[in-house]
Amino acid sequence: MKNILVTGGAGYIGSHTAVELLNKGYRVTILDNLSNSRAEVLHSIEKITGKRPDFFELDLCDRNSLEHFFNTQKIDACIHFAAYKAVGESVDEPLKYYRNNLLSLINLAELMIEKKTDHLVFSSSCSVYGEQDKLPVNENSPLPKAESPYGNTKQIGEEILADTVKVNPFNVIALRYFNPAGAHESALIGEYPIQPPNNLVPVITQTAIGKRKSMTVFGSDYSTPDGTCIRDYIHVVDIAKAHVVAIERLIHKKNKNRFEVFNLGTGTGHSVMEAIHAFEKATNVKLNYTIGEKRAGDVEKVWADTELANQELGWKAALELEDIMQSAWKWELKLKEEAGVEN
Ligand code: UD1
Repeated sequence: MKNILVTGGAGYIGSHTAVELLNKGYRVTILDNLSNSRAEVLHSIEKITGKRPDFFELDLCDRNSLEHFFNTQKIDACIHFAAYKAVGESVDEPLKYYRNNLLSLINLAELMIEKKTDHLVFSSSCSVYGEQDKLPVNENSPLPKAESPYGNTKQIGEEILADTVKVNPFNVIALRYFNPAGAHESALIGEYPIQPPNNLVPVITQTAIGKRKSMTVFGSDYSTPDGTCIRDYIHVVDIAKAHVVAIERLIHKKNKNRFEVFNLGTGTGHSVMEAIHAFEKATNVKLNYTIGEKRAGDVEKVWADTELANQELGWKAALELEDIMQSAWKWELKLKEEAGVEN
């Protein structure tokens, strides 16, 4: 049984991926410093799958601890999620982002190469595309200068890996996520909001549950059919499944290049108003919202060309916007229930 290292495996996408790996019979070892996640997620993963992942509380920036980990554990392949991801915070604290996201990647890649663990799946982001004229965006679209230090850590991360595979026996797949949202159907795992979220779907569910009085639609005069921004919202479980496919592609040596990049999206864009209506339809809950100013730095419209992932990985998103909304709502209700128990 292959042992897959999942860094950041206690986090949002990492925990969903751990579930899919365990369901497919892999052994899973999670490394996480719990800076934006909770150790309780390990119980939830066990409840869903009947199997408990191995867990080490460890900061990937701490090279000595990471080296000790690699000296004592046998790892076959790695999916690297651990990173900071708040765009606004990265603008305020760029060095914190560059240090954490890049140092952790460098430490991990160096030690993997040293230990001859040569399969790595890297979490990238559609934010590397910025604003593109040609839609949908495909993997060959030229990348503009990143809009934020966060986005830049993803661009630089890809470059570090692309350069590294040229001179080392190392194989990497970078997955560029569009807008991950939703939660596991069991409502046992989801995105745990340690800080107030800025992303649309958690803002919607928090407004609906009353954690916020109202939400703002950021801008209504974009050149889109209803004037609001368009994004490609993709269910987190679809994203998790794509990681299993990607790691298997590497393990079975099916990759065509040492460094490959794939978009993970549905291929369909939805506007902010469509997302709000999908939530109301899926849950029968009315949302209190107002139309406000544009948010600085927002891209008008972006959605994925999924052809390459569909063809090469044989993967296709199966869930839709309403599934995202239903599962996100179920998760929000579960968080409320938990908070009630604690009070
Ligand atoms: C953001 C990040 C991106 C990251 C992605 C997924 C920025 C600039 N980009 O993308 O790097 O990969 O999240 O985590 O932050 N909206 C509202 N009202 C709200 C919240 C959002 O109208 O209260 C709108 C936004 O204007 C946008 C859409 O909803 O049009 C989606 O926003 P969001 O969920 O924050 O994702 P992105 O901005 O696409």
